Amino acid sequence: MTETSHDRLLIIDFGSQVTQLIARRLRELNVYCEIHPYQNVTGAFLKDFAPKAVIFSGGPDSVMREGSPRPPSEVYDLGVPILGICYGQQVMMHDLGGRVEAGEHATAEFGRAYVTPTDGSDPLLAGWFLEAREQVWMSHGDHVAEIAPGFEVLGTSPGAPFAMTADPARRFYAVQFHPEVHHTPNGKTLYENFVRMAGFEGDWTMAAYREEMVQKIRDQVGDAKVICALSGGVDSSVAAALIHEAIGENLTCVFVDHGLLRLDEGKEVVGMFRDHMNLSVIHAEEQELFLGELDGVSDPETKRKIIGRLFIDVFQKYADQIEGASFLAQGTLYPDVIESVSFSGGPSVTIKSHHNVGGLPEKMGLKLVEPLRELFKDEVRALGRELGLPDSFIGRHPFPGPGLAIRCPGEITREKLEILRKADAVYIDQIRKHGLYDEIWQAFVAILPVRTVGVMGDGRTYDYACALRAVTSVDGMTADYYPFTHEFLGETATRIINEVKGINRVTYDITSKPPGTIEWE
Ligand code: XMP
Repeated sequence: MTETSHDRLLIIDFGSQVTQLIARRLRELNVYCEIHPYQNVTGAFLKDFAPKAVIFSGGPDSVMREGSPRPPSEVYDLGVPILGICYGQQVMMHDLGGRVEAGEHATAEFGRAYVTPTDGSDPLLAGWFLEAREQVWMSHGDHVAEIAPGFEVLGTSPGAPFAMTADPARRFYAVQFHPEVHHTPNGKTLYENFVRMAGFEGDWTMAAYREEMVQKIRDQVGDAKVICALSGGVDSSVAAALIHEAIGENLTCVFVDHGLLRLDEGKEVVGMFRDHMNLSVIHAEEQELFLGELDGVSDPETKRKIIGRLFIDVFQKYADQIEGASFLAQGTLYPDVIESVSFSGGPSVTIKSHHNVGGLPEKMGLKLVEPLRELFKDEVRALGRELGLPDSFIGRHPFPGPGLAIRCPGEITREKLEILRKADAVYIDQIRKHGLYDEIWQAFVAILPVRTVGVMGDGRTYDYACALRAVTSVDGMTADYYPFTHEFLGETATRIINEVKGINRVTYDITSKPPGTIEWE
């Protein structure tokens, strides 16, 4: 539990994959909330936490199963509004005297559904049902068969007669669908109505988050020294700036130049943090080490493993030189956490072993500080702005830890890296010149492991082909290719071929994610 002077909302987590999105919607409404797993929420906990409202998340279990997750019974006596979502609705109905039935094919609903109103007067519905029906996103097997005494129905869907229910006297609300996901387009309005009814003033802002995180970092770290893996990307930059604010010179950043950076990247990052922000930054020039070990390696997973291992070795080396360094800071974000760890805490299927979470061997002997673990990318940017980082840094496209290694499919050579750097710089320059940089989530060039025949002047060329990649995305988990105009593509291809020796063919990658991934490896 975090010390805060704000009114707070408690989200009791029953294990839904999307619980974090509830928190996100609430934070967009400037409401302070905390997610706690149901196992930790006891009567005493509730008393201490003193929530102004409670939300029950969804979850994968069935309330009919003996021992399935439950909130403590005291929650219903707090006298504060409660909103139950999906499994949370079923829990509430079950606990309060209604009846839930096991799923059958006919009543299970997955995906898009439409809810129509039965009673439009409840304050939860302000701004809802302006059209005849609302699109919602359902994901349930079991369903409520009988509502609890005191409840009435506000809306129904074909598979959920009790899609929206309320006990207005006690201000208990329960919905079968997930208002927190994008596919319930008007879902945020429900949260807004709910928190307004609970009396939240919407005073929790990024400035407040910053203040609280600074305090949390101080509490966690004390007088110990922290070493931060600074990559120059938005995440590690914001993490470094935040930790610097919390502990000042007890933070040392290590910027590892693994020889897989973009053109002039090393100089820019170190310059900005050292000169502009006054951080203590070690510029670890380890190009030889990395490129040496990657020599002759072409398998993507092996590349990542080598780079990951060397990164850790390098950190260890510098950490050992900093007396008293006992923490390692990382800019891990929430999407990294959910892509890497399944609900049960076990490993999910490995698509790419690229995320930092859980990858650090214990031998490092460093504890982790991860102040961005609860944030989504756009929230990290907002925090960065709040901390005064220049827009040019905050708006930067993400850049993967293994850098150009995974944009150079197959074997990495210094020659290919050199060509790739130049081509990438031309491409990004084009995107900036056309004012498209901020519309694109990520753009880069991949140099392909094929040489193709071309003709320039009167001569034959036999050079590398490259692929341009540019995608739009909200969180990097799904993505679509960016629809450049043919003129833009043509002009860019011409510039790359004219300006970059070693490339004689340019292609544009129009694969979405899924089924592709953003990076080529
Ligand atoms: P993919 O290629 O998995 O990428 O669709 C999703 C996002 O993650 C970045 N990415 C990485 N980041 N280490 C990182 O730190 C990695 O190994 C790695 N692989 C991909 C990618 O750039 C995109 O933003």
